[in-house]
Amino acid sequence: MQAAFFSGNQKFETGPCVPVAPVEGQVQIRVAFCGICGTDLHLFHGAMANRLTLPHVMGHEMSGVIESVGAAVQGWKPGDRVTVRPLDPCGQCPACLAGHSHICHNLKFIGIDRPGALQGLWTVPAHTLHRLPESLGLREAAMVEPIAVACHDVRMGEVAAGEFAAVIGGGPIGILIALVAQARGARVLLAEVNEFRVKLARDLGIDAVNPREVDVPVLVAERTAGAGADVVFEVSGSSAAAAIMTSLPRTRGRIVVVAIYGEPPKIDLFRFFWRELKLAGARVYEPVDFEHAIELAAAGRLPIDRLITGVLPLGRLEEAMRQMERGGDCMKILVDVQA
Ligand SMILES: NC(=O)c1ccc[n+]([C@@H]2O[C@H](COP(=O)([O-])OP(=O)(O)OC[C@H]3O[C@@H](n4cnc5c(N)ncnc54)[C@H](O)[C@@H]3O)[C@@H](O)[C@H]2O)c1
Ligand SMILES: [Zn+2]
Ligand SMILES: [Zn+2]
Repeated sequence: MQAAFFSGNQKFETGPCVPVAPVEGQVQIRVAFCGICGTDLHLFHGAMANRLTLPHVMGHEMSGVIESVGAAVQGWKPGDRVTVRPLDPCGQCPACLAGHSHICHNLKFIGIDRPGALQGLWTVPAHTLHRLPESLGLREAAMVEPIAVACHDVRMGEVAAGEFAAVIGGGPIGILIALVAQARGARVLLAEVNEFRVKLARDLGIDAVNPREVDVPVLVAERTAGAGADVVFEVSGSSAAAAIMTSLPRTRGRIVVVAIYGEPPKIDLFRFFWRELKLAGARVYEPVDFEHAIELAAAGRLPIDRLITGVLPLGRLEEAMRQMERGGDCMKILVDVQA
């Protein structure tokens, strides 16, 4: 069984996996598929280097089957199909004590602060596990983590049926937010600058436009009879989008910031006063979001297959990173970890 070891300087080395026997409270998983996301690309480019112990194994969007369980693990056995919510909170900080352990002050993100899933056998705490129903294929199940991000964002945005949601940025997370909001009965407009992604979103039944071709604030006003969007999701991380996001909501409308910005962007705060807007941040997910994501995926309510634009073996990870770097005709690339 193989693992992909990141050695820094934009290099991976594929070599034999070094299995870690699960101790008390841990399980060992035979990883099936693992998605690559923007965070992995940032690590590849040298971001958060102080959090990695090299050689580092990345990967946190996965599916697999339990291989063995450590002592005192209850409710799980070898053969169970699972995905992992890759968060390891401290349990003692003010956020944890307030019940917000997903934004723990000392949060360890598994796949960054701890070894990730791009290895044949992966050992994690049992508290991170979510069960996969038989009806959900392991390939599709590797998409549960980004779907859970979208479920959390839509929940934080308090999206209700019949509402109008504007989503800026149609990468994997933005498209999934659009799909989850639509599944909730919202009307959605998605703004995305990459033509391949605009077209893919349209093929999936999302009303998508390119802000380089249309004036998004004007279009949102038109679509809402001048009122503005009930809720706006900023999922692009671009300063251009942050600059227009406050012009989109209706009076007392909501903005959810999902994106992570390289530099603090310029935001028109006047609109908060003018329209009594509300701003919410959304970070990762809570257990309920994972359960919701699994339910949506297993019910076949999301066109997950169409979002997977490539499946590669571990040895071609660098190639996958280059493809994501170039943008273009790529959405979600999965690694077939056992291939
Ligand atoms: N809050 C969280 O916990 C969390 C979790 C996952 C990802 N993220 C962040 O969410 C963002 C989206 O993630 P992703 O994986 O979909 O990333 P991505 O980079 O694939 O998607 C961003 C998309 O925005 C588009 N874009 C760029 N400028 C734009 C503009 N001016 N108008 C419209 N679209 C524009 C890009 O073409 C791209 O398709 C990233 O910033 C990521 O870091 C946050
Ligand atoms: Zn991710
Ligand atoms: Zn904590």
